[in-house]
Amino acid sequence: MSKKPTIAVTGGAGFIGSHTVVQLVEAGYEVVIIDNLSRSDRTMLDGISRITKTTVPFYEVDCTDPKALDKVFLENSFDAVIHFAAYKAVGESVSMPLDYYENNILSLTTLLRVMNKHAVRSLIFSSSCTVYGEPDMVPVTEQSPIKLANSPYGATKQMCERILEDAKVYGIQAVSLRYFNPIGAHPSGLLGELPIGVPNNLVPFITQSAAGVRGSLTIFGNDYQTPDGTCIRDYIHVVDLADAHVRAFDFIRQQEEASGFHVFNVGTGRGVTVLEVVKEFEEVNKVKLNYSFGPKRPGDIEKVFADPSKAFKSLMWRPKFSMKEALQHAWQWEKNFRKIEQ
Ligand code: UFG
Repeated sequence: MSKKPTIAVTGGAGFIGSHTVVQLVEAGYEVVIIDNLSRSDRTMLDGISRITKTTVPFYEVDCTDPKALDKVFLENSFDAVIHFAAYKAVGESVSMPLDYYENNILSLTTLLRVMNKHAVRSLIFSSSCTVYGEPDMVPVTEQSPIKLANSPYGATKQMCERILEDAKVYGIQAVSLRYFNPIGAHPSGLLGELPIGVPNNLVPFITQSAAGVRGSLTIFGNDYQTPDGTCIRDYIHVVDLADAHVRAFDFIRQQEEASGFHVFNVGTGRGVTVLEVVKEFEEVNKVKLNYSFGPKRPGDIEKVFADPSKAFKSLMWRPKFSMKEALQHAWQWEKNFRKIEQ
């Protein structure tokens, strides 16, 4: 029997990383997690073990550390890498840009050098719809213009994609997945979103507010040019997003050229307002949220949602969960984590 492919997952203890590790194990791959735990928590590793009923090997290593990373590659024989490890808070990136540039770019270049040394040629990269900035037209396709990034975080995603394009000379086959808004949690309730400190993102703020850990939700702005005045986003269940990574690896394996760089939007194609998310959360979970309208958040984009048809066609991927299920799973996870009975 041929050996199962082994995939290194950097940032595998994070929100999207941990769900992807579960999907990979369930798809029959060997997985090794590389994470410095700077923005994640060991509880996620426990959740992965409980769902998969295996212990996934874990290295507490920083991807900007070439020696430590090299050692991981010496001890394992990887067929591919999925690179999640990065800082991701838009607001924080404005106040500490150098940390974002250093960490997000250096971790990718260090990883590529180590991959090259060990002849690992397949990479899936965690990108974001932030690369499109404020789009002129929605839905956005992969051909939509890459606008000047409106945060250092966004600039790092654009720069990393450029690096991957150029890395073709090393014989790298790379896929960049441009995520829209990942939400939800594993249906088992054993894995979910655990941001450090006050959540910046909408759904973890909602679940923590409903759990009484945070105060009332502020909806940032209600006079946007949208049906109810609140911003429009494309919310995608994290398990569906995780599944896109498994499909991306299949896609890479089918490529005949020695190297390449491919980008895919990973969203549902459906734009939803903030107020619709709030109302749906209340309805599906039978929970009353406290919220009020506040000023617009600087840098927020009015309206962005995906045209995911390229991923549908080339990755043979389709989202399976509805937003309703995502909001149910997110609340289930929060309740389990906080030991709340309802
Ligand atoms: N929002 C609120 N109140 C909150 C939090 C968010 O009203 O407390 C609103 C935001 O104003 C926005 C929507 O909810 O309209 C979604 O906000 P998120 O912070 O959850 O997500 P963003 O769309 O701002 O950011 C996401 C990713 C980023 C990525 C960006 C690209 O989190 O990593 O999409 O547009 F860069």
